[in-house]
Parts: sequence; structure tokens; C-alpha cells
Amino acid sequence: MIAENDRVLLVDPRGKKYLMTVTNKIFHTNLGKLDISEIIGMSYGDKIKSHMGKNFSIIKPNIIDYIYMMRKMPQTINPDDACQVIANTGISSGDTVVEAGTGSGAMTLLLSYTVFPGKVYSYDINERFLKVAKENIDNYGKGNVEFKLKDIYEGIDEKDIDLVSLDLPEPHRVVGHAFEALRAGGFVFSFSPCIEQVIDFRREISKYDYSEVKTIETIIREYEVKERGTRPKTRMLGHTGFMTFARKI
Ligand SMILES: C[S@@+](CC[C@H](N)C(=O)[O-])C[C@H]1O[C@@H](n2cnc3c(N)ncnc32)[C@H](O)[C@@H]1O
Repeated sequence: MIAENDRVLLVDPRGKKYLMTVTNKIFHTNLGKLDISEIIGMSYGDKIKSHMGKNFSIIKPNIIDYIYMMRKMPQTINPDDACQVIANTGISSGDTVVEAGTGSGAMTLLLSYTVFPGKVYSYDINERFLKVAKENIDNYGKGNVEFKLKDIYEGIDEKDIDLVSLDLPEPHRVVGHAFEALRAGGFVFSFSPCIEQVIDFRREISKYDYSEVKTIETIIREYEVKERGTRPKTRMLGHTGFMTFARKI
């Protein structure tokens, strides 16, 4: 049963989603007003009707909903890219991760869920961004993130780390610190929009005992499926960023 302050995802008849906390409030949409307090005592899978008679389905939000709908400040990594980290490093429950920069906390959220009850140490130099990320993680995270207002180019405090995850302008400046911080077999990962960042990063990587070094990007082509005329969608996301992985040996 859904209780006050639980989080729900409302899906309107067009598939538009609204993430909200169940409280005593009226929520306005262009398909009518909803009395959110009516949800208390209902179950996930039930529907709530707007004053215009439109049905909104009530479902339980998941981490990908949170990432798409959380408050954003700097550009966030999208889930299709972020999930590559799991496929390429094998991080899992109980692991310890160091991340920089925190930004809005999208990657932090994915890491927090993936390693729980393991821990995430998240570095950023921007107090304003850290505040937004903290809000996002307090709202949707697992309580296993320690934020650090710190320049990671100056070093990493933690040792015996399973993954160092980087999304910041000069990742090559962290390669040596990551090598010191990682356990043998741990990975460093870097997300960068530009190839010059990748070249600098790979040059630095080659100076240390890293193996399994690879750079990839995610290219997703979605399909329009009809009885007649099934084909790739006309528009697709051209470029997000390059992802480089390396494993300390
Ligand atoms: C593109 S954002 C990261 C977005 C984040 N991955 C997300 O998914 O929400 C880059 C962040 O790196 C931070 N940053 C830049 N230089 C840094 C440094 N030397 N140490 C720590 N953080 C840094 C910036 O303040 C900014 O918040």
C-alpha cells in the first residue's frame, strides 16, 4: 500500500511521466487536476483520475526515472553511457568507488545503487553543484555517498579502491593518483566529450601498469515499429562522449 511521503511515478494516457512524493496537494497537468492525497492507501498499478476524467497510472519509480528527472546543474552523463561502466568494469555490490566530478550527481546515483552497501566518495570543486548533487542523492540515493569539496587533480585520499570514475575536463591529470588509489585489478574510467581529452588520457595511461585499455562510445539507433513501414527513427543522438577504461595490474 502506498503511504504518505512515498515516491510514485504517474503516467498519463500519452505516456508522459511525473515523478512525485505523495502528500496532501493538488497537482495540475494539461489533462486536468489530480488530488495526490487520493493515492494514499492505493497500490502500485492502480490509476487515479484527473478532474477531466483522464486516468493516470501509478507505478513505482526506479533509478533510471530518478536520473532522467532529478534536478540538473552541469551536463549529466546519460544512463546509456553510465551503464557501460558496469559492463566494462564489473563493479558490483560491496565495492568502493571514487568519483570526480560529482556535477549534478547522475553518475553518483548509478554508482550508489550499484555498489550499495559499498561506498562512493564523490569529489567536486564547485560548492553549488555539490549542493544540488547532495539534494539529489538525499532524495533518491542509498545513503552510501560521501561528498568531498576537493580538487582531485591534487590527489585521492582513499586507498584500495575498486573503481575511479572520472567526468571532468582534464582526466589525464588523475591517472597517476588513480593508480595509487586503486587495488590491483581495479579500474579507472573516464568519460570525455572530446577526442583530445582521450588522447591525453591514453598517453598518461601508457606510463603506468594498466592493461585492458579501451576507448568506446555508445551509439544507439531506435526503431519505429509499425505494421507497414518499420524502420530506424529519422533522428538519433549523434554524440555524447568517449569512454575509456583501463585496469590496474
Ligand atoms: C560534466 S560535470 C560531471 C557530471 C556528472 N558526471 C553527472 O553525471 O552528473 C563535471 C564536473 O567536474 C567538476 N570538476 C572540474 N574540475 C574538477 C577537479 N579538478 N576536481 C573535482 N571536480 C572537478 C566540475 O565542477 C563539474 O561539476
